[in-house]
Amino acid sequence: MFSTEPVLSLNQADIYQGGRIVLGDVTFDVNKGDFVFLIGRTGSGKSSLLKTLYADLWLQSGTGHIAGFGLEKLKPKDVPYLRRKIGIVFQDFQLFMDRNIEDNLRFVLKATGWTDPAKMKNRISEVLMQVGLGTLHKKMPHQLSGGEQQRVVVARAMLNEPMILIADEPTGNLDPAVGEQIMNVFQTINNSGTAILMATHNYDFLRKYPARVLRVEDGKVIEQGL
Ligand SMILES: Nc1ncnc2c1ncn2[C@@H]1O[C@H](COP(=O)(O)OP(=O)(O)O)[C@@H](O)[C@H]1O
Ligand SMILES: [Mg+2]
Repeated sequence: MFSTEPVLSLNQADIYQGGRIVLGDVTFDVNKGDFVFLIGRTGSGKSSLLKTLYADLWLQSGTGHIAGFGLEKLKPKDVPYLRRKIGIVFQDFQLFMDRNIEDNLRFVLKATGWTDPAKMKNRISEVLMQVGLGTLHKKMPHQLSGGEQQRVVVARAMLNEPMILIADEPTGNLDPAVGEQIMNVFQTINNSGTAILMATHNYDFLRKYPARVLRVEDGKVIEQGL
């Protein structure tokens, strides 16, 4: 049955960081196929909000659902299963530098329950194609540019076909032109139906890639009118 449930829904959520409330009364939905920018100053609480969504911080007050999991009633044992349903991309690339690209990706597949070598090989080829790096399987991370490494990280986040991709300043360490490549990859992924929630400092993106904007400011999250 086709589901119209939001992929992500927060309702009167309070976001805590280090025992202190950083965002209060946060309410918004992200639907299948949405592209949402999360903007706001450094220290405004963007990362704290995203961490709450992938259960690095607990939701202590209010309710939240993501990819079919209830955040307020989540148990530690649920966290790995939740993270299989969402893709996460950070600013720093976090590839294993001692193994090639294919082995980096295979490591994640094995860790998330894949066993069939042929299926793993197939899926690795698919995600590398998706980010435009179909020929780099055997390269070591240090042989890739920063932008290519970050595309591998995006490919890695897509391995288990997440319903939503959460990206925390994914272009923050990249040259502007390279950041555009990452944006193009995100657009492709989004066009195939995966929702994207992306924290960014780069206001040029808001002009070039019109999408929903959530602004984090003064302890609140506000939907910005178009
Ligand atoms: N691990 C932490 N422990 C305590 N306070 C933190 C921690 N990480 C961030 N903070 C504080 O929480 C607030 C929100 O930070 P953060 O969510 O990282 O904002 P942003 O991602 O928008 O820059 C800031 O005041 C920051 O100093
Ligand atoms: Mg941050």
